[in-house]
Amino acid sequence: MSIVFLSPTAQRGGSEAALLELLAGLRESHPSWSLDVVVASDGPLVGGVKALGVPVHVLPFPQSLARLGDWSVGRGVGARVGFMLRCAGLAWPAARYLHRLRAVLRDRRPNVIHTNGFKMHVLGALARPRGSAVLWHLHDYTARRVMMARLLRLIAHRCSTAVANSRSVADDMRSVCGPQFDVHPVWNAVDLNRFTPEGPQVDLDTLAGLERSEGVIRVGLVATFARWKGHRTFLDALALLAPWLRVRGYVIGGPVYETAGSQVTLEELRSVAASLGLGDRVGFTGLVADSAAAMRALDVVVHASTDPEPFGLVIAEAMACAKAVVTSGAGGARELTEPGVNALVHTPGDPRSLAQAIDMLVRDAHLRARLGSAARTSAEQRFTRRRLINEFTPIYERLATP
Ligand code: GLC
Repeated sequence: MSIVFLSPTAQRGGSEAALLELLAGLRESHPSWSLDVVVASDGPLVGGVKALGVPVHVLPFPQSLARLGDWSVGRGVGARVGFMLRCAGLAWPAARYLHRLRAVLRDRRPNVIHTNGFKMHVLGALARPRGSAVLWHLHDYTARRVMMARLLRLIAHRCSTAVANSRSVADDMRSVCGPQFDVHPVWNAVDLNRFTPEGPQVDLDTLAGLERSEGVIRVGLVATFARWKGHRTFLDALALLAPWLRVRGYVIGGPVYETAGSQVTLEELRSVAASLGLGDRVGFTGLVADSAAAMRALDVVVHASTDPEPFGLVIAEAMACAKAVVTSGAGGARELTEPGVNALVHTPGDPRSLAQAIDMLVRDAHLRARLGSAARTSAEQRFTRRRLINEFTPIYERLATP
């Protein structure tokens, strides 16, 4: 079996972490399989893949392609026209890129080309040599990206099968490509030896430039700076908490992707926090490379996405760290927990509902411990590498059978 993985970015996002976990599992379970990774930028993923002994080929996107996103598309004719013009300007660099990608793929002649993000779903399907099957690994919703949905529908016949990170994402893809489209929901795995209840912790106060505060309950939003990750909801919720509660919020993360316009900035968030008068009740740590150590330093991990969350790797990781988690109740994220048993759930985008959940957890150490311990047990049942590989193996094997 030979598989070439195509990743549009090497940054530290959820799709890249999920890919690393899949590669680690395949290395362990199928050491004889030949794996290669082609990645369209340099970054932390490259070192992670190399550390697993998997060859990596960095084939950088031209800047215009790296920065292209379709976030603003669909909101008005002007935005659509602007997007199409940018696409037109992209035709030549994209064609050159396809040419180079085709050469790499022809050289490897893999059984399967596994693509890990929208741009690579398109490029992989177009560059596929005869004899290779294309598997789209869907980490995000397609239907709400108007242009991408059209494009994928158009080339779906060049993709043999798809895997979605949740049932919700699988349903979304069927709504785009038709009910007969072959898509298997497979949840991600997390490294249960890294995301553990016990282990090193980072000093969040120092990272945030705040005075160390003993005896406070630490509540953190761990997320990239994508606009829909709910930073505003989190800050609003912190402002709604009773002022006498001994609580401190942390925004952990930063911008990781190059796509234009898709992210909030630190300045924006700081100014919102200032206008809410949060003062040192909130700290901004920036990206923390060891997210397990950051989560362990928290009492409560918040997931606050305002749009439906395709999966929510952070939720699974926080559960593995035995944390009390509050999740936003929409999309794939809803599939991961049982409210009141192994997490609390709030209404997406509603600061009052989030503040209520945080308030309950801040006041009740027993509840935090009960949810945290149930969460670890659930993570050990649901998010193992073994389960991931057991689900992926027959899919790859079917694709490799002529
Ligand atoms: C994407 C999704 C996120 C998911 C991750 C891994 O980043 O937005 O919900 O956890 O991929 O599948």
